[in-house]
Amino acid sequence: MKLFDVYPLNPIEIVTASGSTVWDANGDEYLDLYGGHAVISIGHTHPHYVKRLTDQLNKVAFYSNSVIISLQQELAEKLGKLSGKSDFQLFLCNSGAEANENALKLASFYNNRKKIIAFKGGFHGRTSLAVAATDNPKIIAAVNQTDNVTFLPFNDEQALEDTFKAFGHEISSVIIEGIQGVGGIREASKSFLQKIRTLCDQYNAVYIADSVQCGYGRTGNFYAHDYAGIEADVYSMAKGMGNGFPIGAIAISPKFKPWHGELGTTFGGNHLACAAALAVLEVMEKDNLMKNAQEVGDYLISELKKFEKITDVRGRGLMIGIDLPDEYSHVKKDLLFKHRIFTGEAKPNVIRLLPALNITKAHADQFLEALSKELKA
Ligand SMILES: Cc1ncc(COP(=O)(O)O)c(C=O)c1O
Repeated sequence: MKLFDVYPLNPIEIVTASGSTVWDANGDEYLDLYGGHAVISIGHTHPHYVKRLTDQLNKVAFYSNSVIISLQQELAEKLGKLSGKSDFQLFLCNSGAEANENALKLASFYNNRKKIIAFKGGFHGRTSLAVAATDNPKIIAAVNQTDNVTFLPFNDEQALEDTFKAFGHEISSVIIEGIQGVGGIREASKSFLQKIRTLCDQYNAVYIADSVQCGYGRTGNFYAHDYAGIEADVYSMAKGMGNGFPIGAIAISPKFKPWHGELGTTFGGNHLACAAALAVLEVMEKDNLMKNAQEVGDYLISELKKFEKITDVRGRGLMIGIDLPDEYSHVKKDLLFKHRIFTGEAKPNVIRLLPALNITKAHADQFLEALSKELKA
């Protein structure tokens, strides 16, 4: 059987990894500033992570949600503490799309409404509702199409107000990334997020903070939305949560009262996934990784702003977008194949940095030096 060929691949096979270094099958070493797409949060093969997962694997890897899994409660407590939302409730699932799917469904159960507000440039995943709320017609199949989603321009407060005025009492939820990732590292303004909060309160709509990419400490805050000084009703998360072990979740405001059967999953919250997620939070707390993300991120952003050829630098913490002029469209590939540095990309010609939260200033300097060579060339 062949693989279903949906991914454009770089001709590199990574066979070992440690921290922010990965090695390919030829033994060549790379600096990983991509983190496998914002997934590697505490570094590859972190010893505490490996030990916690190995120990768990030797005890029990999986049992279904028909029995008590105390690791889930342990995870909920730790996550509540680190995110500053101890009064929220946790529902565990397996991916970012599934987290958003459940968030949108939960909102609709809550207010018994159908309409969703999403934003141009947004990405929320590839399952039915999550993809319908994603601004990319190419990945929305006919079966996913729905009139229930309205796309508004990002950061346009007037359009938001007008929409709520027109049919606010039909709106079930507003879903928004604190910083658009796939959309090219575009930050929601503080006042825009505050406006969403106010209008959702006024119309009893649910504010869903998609934190799948911008959350989990990446920006220096636990959730990127925290920056605006507001609290969402539901936070979805996934990528950095398991440092590569598939796990997703929604953190749910206390105002939602659950009922048995409302949400569910076979694999979500299994023993191994919880052990992985706990190991991540333990390392984040012990090594103060949110602070590191902010400090190294601030350093990178301020240094990048000094480059003449870079047309814009956006983002916060370790979620950084670098705009390059068209004639430098080769730079991302050159960083990978000449300098052996993994970075991410977004269209048009944006380099995305999404490294582990414990990268060092020396890693940042290695990247800045390579970029400087490419932009001089
Ligand atoms: C903001 C955001 N939401 C949701 C998703 C979907 O996550 P997953 O690929 O785990 O389903 C992604 C993935 O890139 C994302 O960036």
